[in-house]
Amino acid sequence: SSNDTKERKNVPGEGGETHQRGDGPALTTSQGIPVGDNQNTLRVGARGPALLEDFHFREKIFHFDHERIPERVVHARGYGAHGYFEATEDLSDLTSAHLFQEKGRRVPAFVRFSTVAGNKGSVDLARDVRGFAVKLYTEEGNWDIVGNNIPVFFIQDAMKFPDLIHSVKEAPDRAFPQAQSAHDNFWDFISLMPEAMHMVMWTMSDRAIPRSFRFMEGFGVHTFRLVTAEGKSQFVKFHWKPKQGLQSVIWDEAVKINGADPDFHRRDLWTAIQNGDYPEWELGVQVFDDAFADTFPFDVLDATKLIPEEDVPVRIVGRLVLDRMVDNFFAETEQVAFCTQNIVPGIDFTNDPLLQGRNFSYLDTQTKRLGGPNFTHIPINAPKCPFHHFQQDGHMAMHNPVGRANYEPNGWAQGGPRADPEKGHRSYPEQVDGEKRKVRGELFADHYSQARQFYISQTGIEQDHIASAIVFELSKVETPAIRERLVAHLPNIDKDLAAKVADGLGLKSVPKAHTPARTPVEGLKPSDSLSILKN
Ligand code: HEM
Repeated sequence: SSNDTKERKNVPGEGGETHQRGDGPALTTSQGIPVGDNQNTLRVGARGPALLEDFHFREKIFHFDHERIPERVVHARGYGAHGYFEATEDLSDLTSAHLFQEKGRRVPAFVRFSTVAGNKGSVDLARDVRGFAVKLYTEEGNWDIVGNNIPVFFIQDAMKFPDLIHSVKEAPDRAFPQAQSAHDNFWDFISLMPEAMHMVMWTMSDRAIPRSFRFMEGFGVHTFRLVTAEGKSQFVKFHWKPKQGLQSVIWDEAVKINGADPDFHRRDLWTAIQNGDYPEWELGVQVFDDAFADTFPFDVLDATKLIPEEDVPVRIVGRLVLDRMVDNFFAETEQVAFCTQNIVPGIDFTNDPLLQGRNFSYLDTQTKRLGGPNFTHIPINAPKCPFHHFQQDGHMAMHNPVGRANYEPNGWAQGGPRADPEKGHRSYPEQVDGEKRKVRGELFADHYSQARQFYISQTGIEQDHIASAIVFELSKVETPAIRERLVAHLPNIDKDLAAKVADGLGLKSVPKAHTPARTPVEGLKPSDSLSILKN
């Protein structure tokens, strides 16, 4: 009968679908129950209502419904790869970090490159800072260098970070613009923030439109400390130098690439690594002691400043090679959690107020983004060395304490791990003294000298690119007062630049320059180039 024919259509493989039976394992539910039919819901009769008892259907849809997690609040769009880091120098005279006790020591590494402002699905060639986050799985735990491809930052204090990021992301009413800085809100904020001017020069330069991740430098940005086994400490800045060289595209190319292939940077890294063309970076350090730091006209705790390479040359101490793509993008690249506070014995923080704020922010945001306190149980975040602690429970706990003891001290013979004052991480016992206050130190007050040094270190063509980038960006700003307020910073950086930009924007004249707090700070040696830029 015709009824029979209709019912027979519910038999797998006879309802019009093409079933290709391979040699793969049997499909099961997540409870391991073999699935007989993955195409049709259980229902009454040929056309009847679906039955709630179809546990396979419910599990499949339920799981799909929960696939999304919050994207990162910044650096949402990123791309990661595995590799290794090798120490090419014995640095035991500078740090007790196990990794640097012997030349040739190797540890596994995971790196995630990213844009900052755009959402997870945004284009790769946006004019933006690029994240350069490195996780080194050392024998003393995970050491993360969570850096960018620009050696300085927009702001000096983490207190300002939510405002900076709100201003650069889409406006709350209109939800545009996305993933670019051509933006009234961004330029409004920046024009009110003289400390951002150095970083603005870098973001308007070709550095902000890299040809691919493989042709970028990376920087730890903050000043950190190296500490020896004897407790001696020096300051350090970290640099990643690409063996491939440093290359950018020009803006017209970026615009075309974004239209034709928004995944251009992803595809480049994937293809290079799949072809065995493994990208490599050298790790460089600039090391200087506290007394030398005091001779700079700026504060080494100010993340809007770099240490000129003429003053402290970069010493190459290691190499980072990326040689394996992820097996699963979500499991690894999306769930990886970098954090500035992940440091190993022999490395320490400084009192940089941006760094100290970051140390709180990453762990906090990741607890939300990754659904609770146990995200170190996810393989990409787990240390590759033995680890033992008394943390327990919480959502998705995979490694609870074994046995009776889950506290310390305890008197049980098998009482579990104990702190080790010799091998454990010790903070450098820096002397600190002073009143509690919200006022920044005087040496944080010069916002233009290094912006000027950056600008004049560029070639003529590169300077033209900076000027035309500022003109392009500001020409998208609808509010004339914001344009003028930003242009009024430029005479403090370079008079020709100010004139070019004013002309490009059709202003009648260069607006009167803002009064700099103190420019230059007394004692600054203006150097006419920064060799940091000469790659
Ligand atoms: C994410 C770098 C300043 C909060 C990131 C990432 C990088 C980075 C590379 C992406 C990590 C990844 O690939 O998963 C930097 C640098 C900074 C800076 C170099 C300045 C020197 C700040 C500040 C804050 C902050 C001041 C907050 C106070 C965050 C947050 C994330 C993030 C919340 C998302 C983390 C996640 O969801 O896993 N940052 N950042 N950053 N950053 Fe920063």
